[in-house]
Amino acid sequence: MTRLVLIGVTGRMGRALVRATREFPALTLTGAIGSAASAALGRDAGELADSGPLGVTVSADLPRALAEADVAVDFSVPAAARATLKACRSAKVPLLIGTTGLAAGLAPALDAAAREIALLVAPNTSLGVALLIELVRTAAAALPSSFDIDVVEAHHRTKTDAPSGTALALVAAADTARQGGTAGAAPAGRAGVVGTPRGEAEIGIAVLRAGDLVGEHTVRFCGPGEELALSHRASDRAIFARGALTAALWLASRPPGRYTMSDFLGFKTAT
Ligand SMILES: NC(=O)c1ccc[n+]([C@@H]2O[C@H](COP(=O)([O-])OP(=O)(O)OC[C@H]3O[C@@H](n4cnc5c(N)ncnc54)[C@H](OP(=O)(O)O)[C@@H]3O)[C@@H](O)[C@H]2O)c1
Repeated sequence: MTRLVLIGVTGRMGRALVRATREFPALTLTGAIGSAASAALGRDAGELADSGPLGVTVSADLPRALAEADVAVDFSVPAAARATLKACRSAKVPLLIGTTGLAAGLAPALDAAAREIALLVAPNTSLGVALLIELVRTAAAALPSSFDIDVVEAHHRTKTDAPSGTALALVAAADTARQGGTAGAAPAGRAGVVGTPRGEAEIGIAVLRAGDLVGEHTVRFCGPGEELALSHRASDRAIFARGALTAALWLASRPPGRYTMSDFLGFKTAT
């Protein structure tokens, strides 16, 4: 049995993860973590997720929860990441971070943690998106530079970070496969009188925030006279929860290191 601690357990994803644990007999929820200011402290995590009592109450004491854990999964807020990394390092508990919008300044802390624990940072834990990233890598490497590459993403109106972490991961995959990661993206897209035509190396991102869309990503490869579009559409956030728990089970027995969903799926990627 793999003992699991969920961080951000009171949120939309946290509750979806609690419900999804029912589909994973090899996992047992032993820790349910919210913020110190959470209105749900002391409540049963299963009841909070509308999936029946589990006998695990929401707490803000992560170090204590990690003392009885084999793996931790974090879907909370970027501001919590540093403390979570520190706690998982000292408890030697593998960590999957699904939280998006992590600060660029967190990179040294992520690298340092990965020297001591298995660490998987996944801006998107859907298995379909993990495969999409690989397909984008293949297409970007195969198509000539006369094919422009753009990422179009759409999410629900309450999502506060943009572009999505997944859109940035898709851009990075295309950029690395085509030109070794040198071009970078044009996150705001093109607006107004830019003054210059689009450059060949540019990879654009267009963002939509609307309604209750769970998450859509399309990568368009537009060349002279033809277009290839690779798309993924999520209609239920349970897919992220299932993917995260499947990957967490795998991560629990990995040696220290930095992992991606592609590693989990068995792809060999140059990073
Ligand atoms: N990787 C993926 O596939 C994927 C998919 C969907 C979403 N996400 C990302 O996952 C994150 C959560 O999304 P969501 O939709 O569930 O957001 P949400 O509903 O706002 O939930 C976030 C939760 O984090 C809790 N929290 C805040 N500070 C905390 C702390 N210090 N320690 C522990 N918990 C804390 C908050 O609850 P309390 O105040 O009650 O503690 C809140 O309920 C976002 O970054 C989102 O972009 C990733």
